[in-house]
Amino acid sequence: MKSHETLRPIWWNDSVAPAGALELIDQTRLPTETVNITCRTLDSVWQAIKQLQVRGAPAIGVAAAYGVIVGLDEAKPGDATWPAALGEVCDHLATSRPTAVNLFWALGRMRDYGKSLGAISWSSARVALLKEAHTIRDEDAAMCRAIGKHGQQVIAENSGVLTHCNAGALATSEYGTALAVMYAAHEQGRKFRVFADETRPLLQGSRLTVWELQRAGIDATLICDNMAAVVMRDKKVNVVITGADRIAANGDAANKIGTYGVAVLANAHGLKFYVAAPSSTFDLSIPDGSHIPIEERQADEVRSLGGRQTAPADIPVFNPAFDVTPARLITGIITERGMITPVTAENVRKVLGK
Ligand code: MRU
Repeated sequence: MKSHETLRPIWWNDSVAPAGALELIDQTRLPTETVNITCRTLDSVWQAIKQLQVRGAPAIGVAAAYGVIVGLDEAKPGDATWPAALGEVCDHLATSRPTAVNLFWALGRMRDYGKSLGAISWSSARVALLKEAHTIRDEDAAMCRAIGKHGQQVIAENSGVLTHCNAGALATSEYGTALAVMYAAHEQGRKFRVFADETRPLLQGSRLTVWELQRAGIDATLICDNMAAVVMRDKKVNVVITGADRIAANGDAANKIGTYGVAVLANAHGLKFYVAAPSSTFDLSIPDGSHIPIEERQADEVRSLGGRQTAPADIPVFNPAFDVTPARLITGIITERGMITPVTAENVRKVLGK
């Protein structure tokens, strides 16, 4: 069995005066610098999510849960006003990014938990709400470990795995989703190689995924996004595993832009394509992926690279941050409750209803 130091991108630091604060690894600085940031205001949490200092669906949810405490501490509510303040803080954090449903899931949970507390003092409510945020973090960590356990058998000895974006420890509370499957296979002593798409425009694959895999001692090779077809054709990879930001009731899955293309390529080459995600990433209120809101980001993310302009300054740009892979292209969805395969609305219900 192999192990490595657990990478945790989000934590609550009780020793920050006066009552603790949310701390994050600033993912925009990786891989060249590992810098932590302390969020003491609601706006700093909102900005951290918006600017991708914390990113990845489950991580956004966990950060938002702690962000609720940060926002309430800043608002300094009274015993009668904290329930309304809780609603306002949650509403504001919900405007940071639209696609990852984990954000709304975690905020909904904080909101509902606050309501269940009834008319108690602000100091008692704060203790309870912070405890709930810790629970959300700890449950996410447990779900990621279970995803690894359920999914590791999809990686065969001496095989090649392709992944897109970063669905690793950095994208969750720890251990990841797609990368959890790889960590768990690695811990079993299995030998395999991972090909990671660099993931333009913001390079989560090259900045984060290969950094994480290298740190864990997993054999990782970086490719540009437009090389995926060739590594498939040349049989360097046998299976594709990605994460997801929101999965509809029929199994259509939104993930980082480019994932749909990778799924089409995998299908064309007869390769299995798996999505790994916790139950907090499912949105059973929408029947299919056409209802998933897709974030569009600033044009300059495409017109530049690493702070250098790489296109005419006024060229029009289309910059959707996510795309939707239809269920028919997904071999299986690996959840903490087991594998959903084949991916149908009925099987989604069966596994998530457990
Ligand atoms: O824009 P990002 O970096 O937040 O996008 C992240 C992804 O698309 C991940 O693949 C997804 O959130 C799954 S994370 C376990």
